[in-house]
Amino acid sequence: MALVDLKPVIPGRRVAEQSGEPGTITPGLRAMTFEGLSRGAAELNDLQEAFRRHHALQCGFCTAGILMSATQFLFEHAQPTEHEVREMLSGHICRCTGYHGIVEAILDTARRRAASEGRNTQGRAG
Ligand code: FES
Repeated sequence: MALVDLKPVIPGRRVAEQSGEPGTITPGLRAMTFEGLSRGAAELNDLQEAFRRHHALQCGFCTAGILMSATQFLFEHAQPTEHEVREMLSGHICRCTGYHGIVEAILDTARRRAASEGRNTQGRAG
């Protein structure tokens, strides 16, 4: 999964098909891939660090897709509830089934971002 203008799309040729006229990439769109989340293994972004801290990586098969979904989700839900996070994750079928660490990592990232921006970090109910 990649993000084009913060909307999830299937990578490869389909990025072009889903982002504009088939076979073209609409000028001005910003594309983000999993590889673009960090500056290499030595410098993970805050969401990736949270996945590591909360043991949310598991076998790693679906981790890249979940990280991209969570990246887009956190742009739209700066202070999500646990229910909202679980709802977002419902589109991912993880065979490792350890969703708890993933949920905690996403909520932790939201809390830390809010704290660093001086927003209320008490969270919302639900
Ligand atoms: S992390 Fe193993 S299948 Fe999702």
